[in-house]
Amino acid sequence: MNRAMSTISTHREMIRHGEFHLTRKKLKNKKMKKILIATEKPFAKSAVDGIKKILEAAGFETVLLENYAQKAELLQAASDADAIIIRSDIVDADVLNAAKNLKIVIRAGAGYDNIDLATATAKGVVAMNTPGQNSNAVAELAMGMMVFAARNNFNGSSGTELKGKKLGLHAFGYVSKAVATIAHGFGMEIYAFDPFVDKGAIEAEGIHYVDDVNELYKTCQYVSLHMPVNAQTKKSVNFDLLSLMPKGATLVNTARKEVIAEEGLLQMFAERADFKYISDVEPDCKSLIAEKFSGRFYFTLKKMGAQTSEANNNAGLAAARQIVDFFTKNDTTFQVNK
Ligand code: 3PG
Repeated sequence: MNRAMSTISTHREMIRHGEFHLTRKKLKNKKMKKILIATEKPFAKSAVDGIKKILEAAGFETVLLENYAQKAELLQAASDADAIIIRSDIVDADVLNAAKNLKIVIRAGAGYDNIDLATATAKGVVAMNTPGQNSNAVAELAMGMMVFAARNNFNGSSGTELKGKKLGLHAFGYVSKAVATIAHGFGMEIYAFDPFVDKGAIEAEGIHYVDDVNELYKTCQYVSLHMPVNAQTKKSVNFDLLSLMPKGATLVNTARKEVIAEEGLLQMFAERADFKYISDVEPDCKSLIAEKFSGRFYFTLKKMGAQTSEANNNAGLAAARQIVDFFTKNDTTFQVNK
Protein backbone atom coordinates (compact mmCIF):
# COMPACT_ATOMS: atom_id res chain seq x y z
CA MET A 1 0.00 0.00 0.00
CA ASN A 2 1.55 3.38 -0.99
CA ARG A 3 1.55 6.33 1.40
CA ALA A 4 -1.36 8.17 -0.24
CA MET A 5 -3.60 5.08 -0.10
CA SER A 6 -2.73 4.42 3.50
CA THR A 7 -3.67 8.03 4.46
CA ILE A 8 -7.05 7.66 2.72
CA SER A 9 -7.77 4.39 4.50
CA THR A 10 -6.77 5.91 7.86
CA HIS A 11 -9.20 8.77 7.22
CA ARG A 12 -11.92 6.29 6.38
CA GLU A 13 -11.21 4.46 9.63
CA MET A 14 -11.31 7.71 11.53
CA ILE A 15 -14.61 8.69 9.95
CA ARG A 16 -16.08 5.27 10.71
CA HIS A 17 -14.75 5.44 14.24
CA GLY A 18 -16.16 8.92 14.69
CA GLU A 19 -19.56 7.91 13.31
CA PHE A 20 -19.62 4.96 15.66
CA HIS A 21 -19.04 7.19 18.66
CA LEU A 22 -21.59 9.69 17.39
CA THR A 23 -24.27 6.97 17.02
CA ARG A 24 -23.61 5.66 20.51
CA LYS A 25 -23.78 9.17 21.91
CA LYS A 26 -27.05 9.82 20.09
CA LEU A 27 -28.57 6.58 21.40
CA LYS A 28 -27.42 7.40 24.90
CA ASN A 29 -29.06 10.83 24.72
CA LYS A 30 -32.30 9.50 23.20
CA LYS A 31 -33.77 7.77 26.25
CA MET A 32 -36.15 4.88 25.68
CA LYS A 33 -39.75 5.89 26.38
CA LYS A 34 -41.04 4.31 29.57
CA ILE A 35 -44.61 3.03 29.54
CA LEU A 36 -46.16 2.23 32.90
CA ILE A 37 -48.99 -0.30 33.07
CA ALA A 38 -50.63 0.59 36.40
CA THR A 39 -53.50 -1.71 37.26
CA GLU A 40 -54.65 -2.10 40.85
CA LYS A 41 -57.04 -4.72 39.40
CA PRO A 42 -54.70 -6.60 37.04
CA PHE A 43 -55.39 -7.55 33.43
CA ALA A 44 -55.35 -11.24 32.49
CA LYS A 45 -51.76 -12.42 31.85
CA SER A 46 -52.38 -12.84 28.12
CA ALA A 47 -53.33 -9.15 27.92
CA VAL A 48 -50.22 -8.03 29.83
CA ASP A 49 -48.05 -10.16 27.53
CA GLY A 50 -49.76 -8.71 24.45
CA ILE A 51 -49.42 -5.12 25.66
CA LYS A 52 -45.70 -5.62 26.38
CA LYS A 53 -45.14 -7.23 22.99
CA ILE A 54 -46.66 -4.28 21.11
CA LEU A 55 -44.84 -1.64 23.16
CA GLU A 56 -41.47 -3.38 23.18
CA ALA A 57 -41.63 -4.05 19.42
CA ALA A 58 -42.02 -0.27 19.02
CA GLY A 59 -38.83 0.25 21.07
CA PHE A 60 -40.47 1.28 24.35
CA GLU A 61 -39.66 0.04 27.82
CA THR A 62 -42.58 -1.33 29.86
CA VAL A 63 -42.97 -1.26 33.63
CA LEU A 64 -45.73 -3.21 35.37
CA LEU A 65 -47.36 -2.11 38.62
CA GLU A 66 -50.18 -4.45 39.64
CA ASN A 67 -52.22 -5.02 42.80
CA TYR A 68 -50.76 -1.96 44.47
CA ALA A 69 -52.24 -1.04 47.83
CA GLN A 70 -50.91 2.49 48.35
CA LYS A 71 -51.19 5.59 46.20
CA ALA A 72 -47.51 6.22 47.01
CA GLU A 73 -46.59 3.19 44.90
CA LEU A 74 -48.37 4.69 41.89
CA LEU A 75 -46.76 8.10 42.47
CA GLN A 76 -43.32 6.48 42.60
CA ALA A 77 -43.87 4.32 39.51
CA ALA A 78 -45.34 7.24 37.53
CA SER A 79 -42.49 9.62 38.35
CA ASP A 80 -40.43 8.82 35.22
CA ALA A 81 -43.15 7.41 32.93
CA ASP A 82 -43.74 8.89 29.46
CA ALA A 83 -47.11 7.13 29.21
CA ILE A 84 -49.42 5.29 31.61
CA ILE A 85 -52.04 2.64 30.88
CA ILE A 86 -54.69 2.41 33.59
CA ARG A 87 -58.08 0.82 34.29
CA SER A 88 -60.18 2.30 37.13
CA ASP A 89 -56.95 3.53 38.72
CA ILE A 90 -57.16 7.11 39.96
CA VAL A 91 -55.01 9.55 38.02
CA ASP A 92 -55.57 12.74 39.99
CA ALA A 93 -53.54 15.95 40.24
CA ASP A 94 -51.05 14.25 42.60
CA VAL A 95 -50.28 11.56 40.05
CA LEU A 96 -50.13 14.05 37.16
CA ASN A 97 -47.78 16.33 39.14
CA ALA A 98 -45.56 13.42 40.16
CA ALA A 99 -45.31 12.15 36.56
CA LYS A 100 -42.88 14.79 35.31
CA ASN A 101 -42.30 13.18 31.88
CA LEU A 102 -45.90 12.17 31.22
CA LYS A 103 -47.28 12.85 27.75
CA ILE A 104 -50.25 10.49 27.59
CA VAL A 105 -52.50 8.51 29.93
CA ILE A 106 -54.78 5.85 28.48
CA ARG A 107 -57.77 4.46 30.28
CA ALA A 108 -58.04 0.90 28.92
CA GLY A 109 -61.82 0.95 29.03
CA ALA A 110 -64.78 3.24 28.57
CA GLY A 111 -65.31 5.55 31.57
CA TYR A 112 -62.59 8.12 32.23
CA ASP A 113 -64.08 9.72 35.34
CA ASN A 114 -61.00 8.45 37.21
CA ILE A 115 -58.71 10.90 35.35
CA ASP A 116 -58.47 14.55 36.42
CA LEU A 117 -58.98 15.88 32.89
CA ALA A 118 -58.66 19.56 33.82
CA THR A 119 -55.22 19.02 35.35
CA ALA A 120 -54.16 16.74 32.48
CA THR A 121 -55.14 19.43 29.97
CA ALA A 122 -53.40 22.15 31.96
CA LYS A 123 -50.22 20.08 32.00
CA GLY A 124 -50.45 19.24 28.28
CA VAL A 125 -51.04 15.54 28.99
CA VAL A 126 -53.24 13.74 26.46
CA ALA A 127 -55.95 11.52 27.99
CA MET A 128 -57.59 8.75 25.94
CA ASN A 129 -59.97 5.86 26.46
CA THR A 130 -60.51 2.75 24.32
CA PRO A 131 -64.23 2.98 23.49
CA GLY A 132 -66.18 -0.19 22.81
CA GLN A 133 -63.33 -2.58 23.58
CA ASN A 134 -64.78 -4.08 26.75
CA SER A 135 -68.48 -3.54 26.04
CA ASN A 136 -69.47 -7.13 25.34
CA ALA A 137 -68.10 -8.28 28.71
CA VAL A 138 -70.10 -5.61 30.55
CA ALA A 139 -73.23 -6.41 28.53
CA GLU A 140 -72.97 -10.13 29.34
CA LEU A 141 -72.68 -9.30 33.04
CA ALA A 142 -75.73 -6.99 32.89
CA MET A 143 -77.78 -9.77 31.30
CA GLY A 144 -76.43 -12.35 33.76
CA MET A 145 -77.45 -10.09 36.63
CA MET A 146 -80.97 -9.79 35.22
CA VAL A 147 -81.32 -13.57 35.07
CA PHE A 148 -79.90 -13.81 38.61
CA ALA A 149 -82.47 -11.28 39.93
CA ALA A 150 -85.35 -12.87 38.01
CA ARG A 151 -84.47 -16.25 39.58
CA ASN A 152 -84.40 -14.81 43.12
CA ASN A 153 -80.60 -14.81 43.40
CA PHE A 154 -80.59 -18.55 42.62
CA ASN A 155 -82.11 -19.36 46.01
CA GLY A 156 -84.14 -22.28 44.65
CA SER A 157 -87.57 -20.62 44.82
CA SER A 158 -89.80 -20.10 41.78
CA GLY A 159 -88.69 -17.04 39.86
CA THR A 160 -89.68 -15.36 36.61
CA GLU A 161 -88.40 -15.20 33.03
CA LEU A 162 -87.03 -12.32 31.02
CA LYS A 163 -88.98 -13.28 27.91
CA GLY A 164 -91.69 -10.75 27.10
CA LYS A 165 -90.51 -8.27 29.75
CA LYS A 166 -89.75 -4.64 28.95
CA LEU A 167 -86.11 -3.56 29.27
CA GLY A 168 -85.18 0.13 29.44
CA LEU A 169 -81.68 1.19 28.48
CA HIS A 170 -80.79 4.43 30.21
CA ALA A 171 -78.19 5.88 27.78
CA PHE A 172 -77.31 4.23 24.55
CA GLY A 173 -73.61 3.60 23.88
CA TYR A 174 -71.52 0.54 23.04
CA VAL A 175 -72.56 -1.43 26.15
CA SER A 176 -76.27 -0.68 25.68
CA LYS A 177 -76.09 -1.79 22.08
CA ALA A 178 -74.50 -5.09 23.13
CA VAL A 179 -77.10 -5.55 25.92
CA ALA A 180 -79.86 -4.99 23.37
CA THR A 181 -78.42 -7.63 21.03
CA ILE A 182 -78.42 -10.24 23.81
CA ALA A 183 -81.75 -9.11 25.28
CA HIS A 184 -83.41 -9.51 21.88
CA GLY A 185 -82.31 -13.14 22.02
CA PHE A 186 -84.06 -13.46 25.38
CA GLY A 187 -87.26 -12.16 23.79
CA MET A 188 -87.34 -8.89 25.74
CA GLU A 189 -89.00 -5.76 24.40
CA ILE A 190 -86.38 -3.02 24.44
CA TYR A 191 -86.65 0.74 24.97
CA ALA A 192 -83.85 3.29 25.08
CA PHE A 193 -83.44 6.87 26.25
CA ASP A 194 -80.38 8.92 25.35
CA PRO A 195 -80.55 12.67 24.69
CA PHE A 196 -77.32 12.47 22.65
CA VAL A 197 -78.37 9.71 20.24
CA ASP A 198 -80.64 10.10 17.20
CA LYS A 199 -84.00 8.41 17.12
CA GLY A 200 -83.03 6.71 13.85
CA ALA A 201 -79.87 5.13 15.31
CA ILE A 202 -81.90 3.59 18.15
CA GLU A 203 -84.79 2.42 15.99
CA ALA A 204 -82.32 0.89 13.51
CA GLU A 205 -81.45 -1.60 16.28
CA GLY A 206 -85.08 -2.70 16.66
CA ILE A 207 -85.42 -0.67 19.87
CA HIS A 208 -88.25 1.69 20.86
CA TYR A 209 -86.97 5.26 21.05
CA VAL A 210 -88.04 7.15 24.19
CA ASP A 211 -87.52 10.91 24.34
CA ASP A 212 -88.45 11.38 27.99
CA VAL A 213 -86.52 9.64 30.75
CA ASN A 214 -89.66 9.48 32.94
CA GLU A 215 -91.38 7.53 30.20
CA LEU A 216 -88.53 4.97 30.16
CA TYR A 217 -88.91 4.25 33.88
CA LYS A 218 -92.71 4.25 33.67
CA THR A 219 -92.66 1.69 30.86
CA CYS A 220 -89.92 -0.74 31.86
CA GLN A 221 -89.82 -3.37 34.56
CA TYR A 222 -86.07 -3.75 34.03
CA VAL A 223 -83.88 -0.67 33.69
CA SER A 224 -80.19 -1.03 32.88
CA LEU A 225 -77.93 1.99 33.47
CA HIS A 226 -75.25 2.86 30.92
CA MET A 227 -74.49 6.55 31.30
CA PRO A 228 -71.08 7.97 32.20
CA VAL A 229 -70.73 9.75 35.52
CA ASN A 230 -70.47 13.51 35.14
CA ALA A 231 -72.01 16.67 36.60
CA GLN A 232 -75.31 16.00 34.79
CA THR A 233 -75.66 12.32 35.66
CA LYS A 234 -74.35 12.27 39.25
CA LYS A 235 -77.21 11.22 41.59
CA SER A 236 -79.61 11.51 38.65
CA VAL A 237 -81.28 8.15 39.27
CA ASN A 238 -83.41 9.26 42.19
CA PHE A 239 -86.61 8.25 43.96
CA ASP A 240 -88.82 10.32 41.63
CA LEU A 241 -87.56 8.30 38.69
CA LEU A 242 -87.39 4.88 40.34
CA SER A 243 -90.86 5.15 41.84
CA LEU A 244 -92.30 5.37 38.31
CA MET A 245 -91.25 1.79 37.58
CA PRO A 246 -93.99 -0.83 37.22
CA LYS A 247 -94.43 -3.75 39.62
CA GLY A 248 -91.53 -6.17 39.72
CA ALA A 249 -89.05 -3.32 39.19
CA THR A 250 -85.40 -4.31 38.83
CA LEU A 251 -82.60 -1.79 38.46
CA VAL A 252 -79.33 -3.06 37.01
CA ASN A 253 -76.24 -0.89 37.39
CA THR A 254 -73.10 -1.74 35.47
CA ALA A 255 -72.30 1.98 35.08
CA ARG A 256 -71.10 3.82 38.20
CA LYS A 257 -72.42 3.92 41.77
CA GLU A 258 -72.25 7.75 41.69
CA VAL A 259 -75.18 8.02 39.24
CA ILE A 260 -77.53 6.77 41.98
CA ALA A 261 -79.03 9.07 44.60
CA GLU A 262 -78.59 6.60 47.46
CA GLU A 263 -81.17 8.18 49.78
CA GLY A 264 -83.71 7.70 46.96
CA LEU A 265 -82.54 4.12 46.49
CA LEU A 266 -83.12 3.39 50.19
CA GLN A 267 -86.55 5.01 50.02
CA MET A 268 -87.41 2.86 47.00
CA PHE A 269 -86.35 -0.30 48.85
CA ALA A 270 -88.44 0.74 51.85
CA GLU A 271 -91.59 1.75 49.95
CA ARG A 272 -91.60 -0.86 47.20
CA ALA A 273 -91.32 -4.45 48.41
CA ASP A 274 -91.15 -5.59 44.78
CA PHE A 275 -88.01 -3.55 44.01
CA LYS A 276 -84.63 -5.19 43.41
CA TYR A 277 -81.24 -3.59 42.83
CA ILE A 278 -78.35 -5.44 41.25
CA SER A 279 -75.09 -3.58 40.86
CA ASP A 280 -71.55 -4.12 39.67
CA VAL A 281 -69.92 -2.47 42.72
CA GLU A 282 -71.32 -1.86 46.14
CA PRO A 283 -73.19 1.33 46.97
CA ASP A 284 -71.98 3.35 49.95
CA CYS A 285 -75.20 2.42 51.78
CA LYS A 286 -74.59 -1.32 51.29
CA SER A 287 -74.77 -2.23 54.99
CA LEU A 288 -78.17 -0.51 55.39
CA ILE A 289 -79.54 -2.42 52.39
CA ALA A 290 -78.04 -5.70 53.60
CA GLU A 291 -79.52 -5.20 57.05
CA LYS A 292 -83.09 -4.50 55.94
CA PHE A 293 -83.68 -5.79 52.42
CA SER A 294 -82.16 -9.22 52.26
CA GLY A 295 -82.72 -11.23 49.06
CA ARG A 296 -83.54 -8.13 46.99
CA PHE A 297 -80.04 -7.07 46.01
CA TYR A 298 -76.68 -8.28 44.81
CA PHE A 299 -73.42 -6.34 44.64
CA THR A 300 -70.13 -7.48 43.19
CA LEU A 301 -67.23 -7.00 45.61
CA LYS A 302 -65.03 -5.42 42.97
CA LYS A 303 -66.15 -3.93 39.65
CA MET A 304 -66.01 -6.92 37.35
CA GLY A 305 -68.07 -6.00 34.28
CA ALA A 306 -64.97 -5.76 32.11
CA GLN A 307 -63.09 -8.48 33.95
CA THR A 308 -62.80 -11.12 31.21
CA SER A 309 -59.66 -12.11 29.38
CA GLU A 310 -61.30 -11.11 26.09
CA ALA A 311 -62.13 -7.61 27.35
CA ASN A 312 -58.69 -7.25 28.95
CA ASN A 313 -57.05 -8.22 25.66
CA ASN A 314 -59.26 -5.96 23.56
CA ALA A 315 -58.90 -2.89 25.78
CA GLY A 316 -55.26 -3.46 26.81
CA LEU A 317 -53.96 -4.09 23.31
CA ALA A 318 -55.95 -1.15 21.93
CA ALA A 319 -54.34 1.05 24.60
CA ALA A 320 -50.85 -0.18 23.62
CA ARG A 321 -51.52 0.47 19.92
CA GLN A 322 -52.89 3.94 20.68
CA ILE A 323 -49.68 4.77 22.58
CA VAL A 324 -47.52 3.61 19.67
CA ASP A 325 -49.61 5.63 17.20
CA PHE A 326 -49.47 8.66 19.45
CA PHE A 327 -45.68 8.65 19.76
CA THR A 328 -44.93 7.62 16.19
CA LYS A 329 -47.70 9.36 14.20
CA ASN A 330 -49.00 11.95 16.63
CA ASP A 331 -52.41 10.23 16.35
CA THR A 332 -54.86 11.62 18.91
CA THR A 333 -58.03 9.98 17.59
CA PHE A 334 -59.29 8.77 20.97
CA GLN A 335 -58.29 11.83 22.98
CA VAL A 336 -61.00 12.79 25.49
CA ASN A 337 -59.51 16.12 26.67
CA LYS A 338 -59.27 17.91 23.31
C1 3PG B 1 -65.07 0.87 32.05
O1 3PG B 1 -65.36 2.04 32.28
O2 3PG B 1 -64.45 0.53 31.02
C2 3PG B 1 -65.55 -0.22 32.96
O3 3PG B 1 -66.15 0.33 34.09
C3 3PG B 1 -64.47 -1.22 33.33
O4 3PG B 1 -63.62 -0.80 34.36
P1 3PG B 1 -62.37 -1.69 34.80
O5 3PG B 1 -61.36 -1.67 33.71
O6 3PG B 1 -61.86 -1.05 36.06
O7 3PG B 1 -62.85 -3.09 35.06
